[in-house]
Amino acid sequence: MDELLETEFDTVAAWTEAAVAELGQDHAIPAACRGSGRPSDLAWLADGLELTDGDRFLDAGSGLGGPTAWLVTEFGWRWQGPVLLAEPMKLAAAASVRLFGHPAVAAWTENLPLPDESVDAAWALGVLDTLDDKREVLTELHRVLRPGARLGLLVLVARGEHANDLESNSFPTDVELHRDLTACGFRVVDRIDTAALADAPPEWTTRADAVEEVVARDHRSEEAWRQAEQQTETLTRLLDEREVVSVLLRTARV
Ligand SMILES: C[S@@+](CC[C@H](N)C(=O)[O-])C[C@H]1O[C@@H](n2cnc3c(N)ncnc32)[C@H](O)[C@@H]1O
Repeated sequence: MDELLETEFDTVAAWTEAAVAELGQDHAIPAACRGSGRPSDLAWLADGLELTDGDRFLDAGSGLGGPTAWLVTEFGWRWQGPVLLAEPMKLAAAASVRLFGHPAVAAWTENLPLPDESVDAAWALGVLDTLDDKREVLTELHRVLRPGARLGLLVLVARGEHANDLESNSFPTDVELHRDLTACGFRVVDRIDTAALADAPPEWTTRADAVEEVVARDHRSEEAWRQAEQQTETLTRLLDEREVVSVLLRTARV
């Protein structure tokens, strides 16, 4: 397994779970939304999923499971149905089950243990830009989604020349992303840059920061923490300089 991927998404996930245990369950959702960010992004995507009661929902590349926990909590009045989280990092997948109690499978999205057309709606947040071959994952998502199903995406796209400074990521351009989606049988229904949406509420940021501080307190002397921190710093710089931009897409499986 790619060591950088493991450090960034597995080791840090386990540390995050421990920090939440210390600080309290009200810190779990903000801390476990790694890469998907804020309630405004999740709400915009959730609105586009067109969920109705009984719909089967898949979170592909679910990390620590914060976004699905947010969806179940905030959209419970509009939709109730089975959820499945699929996350290749085993520690992260297991931690998500302990944190939120939703079923999770340790699986790469290129190879999902699900029958054809067995999912009514899905999202993949911050996943595509970590992959060299986006089409492999999109093809597999197309296989498991039923025709007409909605797929929500959060993707970091390259807008500047230095966007691909980050070794662990492969940011597509807007054009490449649209080509990949079309080639794999997805129609883009709507899209928005996350910069157009509201910032996270202060209590969300405060809780996420508090968890990060506990993780830093306990692990800052470790090489894995330094590696993960460097990744975060580079990504933050790329986002600040708008070399990379965070985009949300509502798509439909053709
Ligand atoms: C930036 S994190 C986002 C996690 C989660 N979706 C969220 O928004 O909180 C990217 C996730 O993609 C996962 N990932 C990387 N390659 C993957 C693949 N081929 N299939 C599924 N997930 C993958 C990583 O393990 C990591 O958990």
